[in-house]
Amino acid sequence: MSAAERVRELRAEIDRHNYQYYILDAPLIPDAEFDRLFRELQALEAEHPELASLDSPTRRVGAAPLPEFKPVAHRTPMLSLNNAFSDAEVEAFDRRVREGLETVGDIEYSAEPKFDGLAVGLVYENGILVCGATRGDGSTGEEVTPNLRTVSSIPLHLRGAGWPSLLEVRGEVLMFRSDFDRLNTRQREKGDKEFVNPRNAAAGSLRQLDSRITASRSLRFFAYGVGVAEAGELPARHSDLLNLLAGWGLPVAIERRCVRGVGGLLAYYAEIGGKRASLPYDIDGVVYKLDDLAAQERLGFVSRAPRFAIAHKFPAEEALTQVLAIDIQVGRTGALTPVARLAPVFVGGVTVTNATLHNEDEVRRKDVHIGDTVIVRRAGDVIPEVVRVLPEKRPILAPEFIMPKACPVCGSQVVRAQDESVARCSGGLYCPAQRKQALLHFASRRAMDIEGLGDKLVEQLVDSNLVRTPADLYRMGLMALIDLERFAEKSANNLLLAIEHSKQTTLARFIYALGIRNVGEATAKDLARHFGSLDRLLAANEAQLMQVSDVGPVVAQCLRQFFDEPHNLEVIEQLRASGVVWSEGEALPIAGSAVAGKVFVLTGTLPSLTREAAKELIEASGGKVSGSVSKKTDFVVAGAEAGSKLEKAQALGVAVIDETQLLDLLQQNIKGETQ
Ligand code: IVH
Repeated sequence: MSAAERVRELRAEIDRHNYQYYILDAPLIPDAEFDRLFRELQALEAEHPELASLDSPTRRVGAAPLPEFKPVAHRTPMLSLNNAFSDAEVEAFDRRVREGLETVGDIEYSAEPKFDGLAVGLVYENGILVCGATRGDGSTGEEVTPNLRTVSSIPLHLRGAGWPSLLEVRGEVLMFRSDFDRLNTRQREKGDKEFVNPRNAAAGSLRQLDSRITASRSLRFFAYGVGVAEAGELPARHSDLLNLLAGWGLPVAIERRCVRGVGGLLAYYAEIGGKRASLPYDIDGVVYKLDDLAAQERLGFVSRAPRFAIAHKFPAEEALTQVLAIDIQVGRTGALTPVARLAPVFVGGVTVTNATLHNEDEVRRKDVHIGDTVIVRRAGDVIPEVVRVLPEKRPILAPEFIMPKACPVCGSQVVRAQDESVARCSGGLYCPAQRKQALLHFASRRAMDIEGLGDKLVEQLVDSNLVRTPADLYRMGLMALIDLERFAEKSANNLLLAIEHSKQTTLARFIYALGIRNVGEATAKDLARHFGSLDRLLAANEAQLMQVSDVGPVVAQCLRQFFDEPHNLEVIEQLRASGVVWSEGEALPIAGSAVAGKVFVLTGTLPSLTREAAKELIEASGGKVSGSVSKKTDFVVAGAEAGSKLEKAQALGVAVIDETQLLDLLQQNIKGETQ
């Protein structure tokens, strides 16, 4: 096969796959295979410059930067649409159409999504894309042909046959939300400015003098009409016109539909409104167009908008408002979430008075101060969000947000683990916000195993104020239970029996039942076996806790934070006082094969342990920590930016280990003992 033949074959093959992917949404081959075809074509074209062609798919990668955009006069103006915001306005539109056409029956309309992107016109001469331009002021736009060529869903030549010799297709360039998220992640990683929404990202990406940047941005195109058609027959109805464009390889919305009368219009509006959040791209309403093209002509235009079409807008999803305060919400698991209290604003169809700020880092990243003017967004059923601050509107007195040190609900200490973005209340057993969750876990089968104490009952007990902490379960009387709505004496008795029964438990179950973060059943068992008694566990410092197999710095910290909270200790004492018991055993002896008696020197910064913590750990296992390296040193533990001590160790031939190896050595102690 000659190079020319292969090039022709590859181009046809790539075009076919583009069509399958972008128009039919039914790719036939994996992306990697597509890339291989594409690279083969690129290589052949580089080898044979005489085979170059303007409509080759390889042209989609972008061209050399332009000095400026050239103005293009649109052959027919690109107009805008009038808006309708209510059913009444849609009814008025339909009435005007019927009056204008002197029709009595229902009108047939073509209904389509209103894409939230930017309008462009694509000029095809004899089926080949020759020019593409933005809307501009409606009569003159900017030529962005090299950029539009990079948009994979825009055909560089039309499929099939029968196109007018000159055809201007009108439509919208936009960015899918998933591509927008990816782009913003990339921008953030590079330290570049993030885009506010997909429309801005699409506009910013299309208006690039360097089309190679556009090529890297995953833009999409949807056709919604024809601006100019010369020498060629077009169908009599708009819906058929869109079908024809689809046949020529142009993407059109699959949600387009023919509907009759106002009833049909409003049903379509409701249907698309329901699908809005699940569409891959943003829409800001739907567009209704008289389907009969000859009738469209008869109705004509008023000023800059057609009489035959209207945009029925969805309620705006973004609005401006002011941050009145930043409050803290405590969730069921103790997570503290900052919430912006807002001056009430109508957005996304409802009045919004607060928006989540997720966590402390997010407040800093968005730089939200109290008193700021912000853009809030509410899309579909999602929780309203602060999109960004308008810094130019910040008042002189605009205090920064400070995460409280005590839980606003119960006063327990607020803690935030290393590498975690979430701050949490440490009063798990005591905090009213965490009550229901804590009780359910406490009573669960693998914890205290209180049969019959499920979701609904916990709700009832907590809501009626009968139970505030797990300790209260053991103080409930029969009469109080019977007083509860729909609670028969028999079931009350059964519950009390189950509670009584649960008093006899094991230390492992009890530890697990406390619901300490990161302490699951297996860890609870290890802790019980290692310490033998609750008091010894309560007295252990982080270093001692880390001697338990599988307890690392994170779990040790969670345990300490939990037991350091006086509110939790109070509940534990009450539980013991109510008669919750288990048999206690001996603590495991510290054998200390690997670390005991060994001399360690610490140098550099360790990834997770502080110098102090590492020292405590070694000493708790019977090792020694010295400040300088000598022949007597057994191990040098080296972290980042270790200096002269490391060099000396190497010179003396002393073993050098890292933090992971140190933790392994410490764990070997335990294994040695338990064998
Ligand atoms: S038809 C003569 N159909 O809305 C009217 N426009 O406000 C031509 N738009 O600039 C427009 N989706 O960018 C039409 N399905 C759709 C549309 C649509 C979005 C945009 C278009 C135009 C603006 C008019």
